[in-house]
Amino acid sequence: MKKNRCISAVVLAAGKGVRMKSKKPKVLIPLCGRTLLDTVIDNLLKVNDFKEIVIVLNKELLFLKRKLEARNQRIKVAIQLKPLGTADALKSALSKVAKAASDIFVINADVALFKVATIKRLIDSHMHSLRAATLLSAVSESPAGYGRVIRNKTGQVERITEEIDLCEEEKQIGEINSGIYCFKKGVLGRALGQIRRRKNKNEYYLTDAIGILLTQGVGVVSAQTLEEILGINSAADLAKAARIMSSRIVSGFLAEGVKIMDPANTYIEANVKIGTETVIYPFTYIETQVVIGKDCSIGPFARLRKDVHLDDNVTVGNFVELSRTRVGSGTIIKHFGYLGDCSIGKKVNVGAGSVTANFDGLTKHKTHIEDGAFIGCDTVLIAPVKVGKTAVTGAGSVLVKKRNVPKGKVAVGVPARIINKKRG
Ligand code: UD1
Ligand code: CA
Repeated sequence: MKKNRCISAVVLAAGKGVRMKSKKPKVLIPLCGRTLLDTVIDNLLKVNDFKEIVIVLNKELLFLKRKLEARNQRIKVAIQLKPLGTADALKSALSKVAKAASDIFVINADVALFKVATIKRLIDSHMHSLRAATLLSAVSESPAGYGRVIRNKTGQVERITEEIDLCEEEKQIGEINSGIYCFKKGVLGRALGQIRRRKNKNEYYLTDAIGILLTQGVGVVSAQTLEEILGINSAADLAKAARIMSSRIVSGFLAEGVKIMDPANTYIEANVKIGTETVIYPFTYIETQVVIGKDCSIGPFARLRKDVHLDDNVTVGNFVELSRTRVGSGTIIKHFGYLGDCSIGKKVNVGAGSVTANFDGLTKHKTHIEDGAFIGCDTVLIAPVKVGKTAVTGAGSVLVKKRNVPKGKVAVGVPARIINKKRG
């Protein structure tokens, strides 16, 4: 980066997101367990070049301000009062941008799949030039819906034109605007001031700044792949993005040595940890914030929900659902069942069909199963309840809440009672 130049990032997240047809604001929709906005922020935080990251929110999203600012010192929040388009959104952020910033990086909050290396390449190219603007583009075979980069006969950029303003001929143009740009700050304010409101959409288009800044230099950097600039506007785009993101996550684990037997049919959300040598069989779904140790065997058809922690050598077999549960090493939960809000010790055997009744209609309660316990097939554990070390429950028993099974004892029946029998 050139001396005396420094760059701030602005994330445009204040749009209406009508094409998503959701009640929820678009940027709060989850993509592999993380909201679109968090996905973009997490990625931008990895780009060390930014002095700060200013997020433009609308009034509806303003409740996020405190949480966002608490996440990282570099995060600031700006507000766009009315959804008057991307140029107006950027204008709303300018007063929040540090005086020391010489350049501004801008990204649409719904372009969540970008690669950090691509952003660095864009920033490097811009910061080493004297250009007023540099934009990121890619060539697509199905460019419909995106703004197109219009070039003259000599190949120089002339303007960006939005889909609804394209003439028939221009619709054939495959080069699309990614919604990711760098601008020299000194010229940006005036350029934004020159943008006219579009009558057909009642919005100020940021893309018009490119045409306005032409005489002061506009450059283009190509994205590495088309998928990294996918704009997530509709449910179909979201599905496409989730596929791409999940497959990237799965590939990351394969590279680390996790044995995922059928990558195309394994779903892993963001922020999951899996130890090496663990084998994951097909049709397994692992949600965010799950931690799996080494040498585990998961699935096929397992569902590990948020806040599940498995130590090393744990087996979770088919049709098992775990939620907010810790499992000690060497424990086996091999066949269908549901365990929620549990702490399970080491070397426990949970028989087929065992379930926790952890919710009484009002609150969720905990179940503790201590080291070496043996939970017979079809046991129902009505929480709060505890099964002591090496204790046994008989097949089909129903453990009533607070009636704990003491260490080494055997409980059978409905409701379960302790019998005078040593574990066989
Ligand atoms: C935009 C670009 C288009 C580009 C595409 C890439 C414009 C005019 N068009 O179109 O050239 O190909 O992205 O994905 O910029 N936003 C606000 N305030 C507003 C309106 C939008 O903050 O008043 C935010 C949205 O939350 C969104 C982003 O700006 O994150 C882009 O808005 P969107 O309506 O999705 O633009 P596109 O039509 O996709
Ligand atoms: Ca968009």
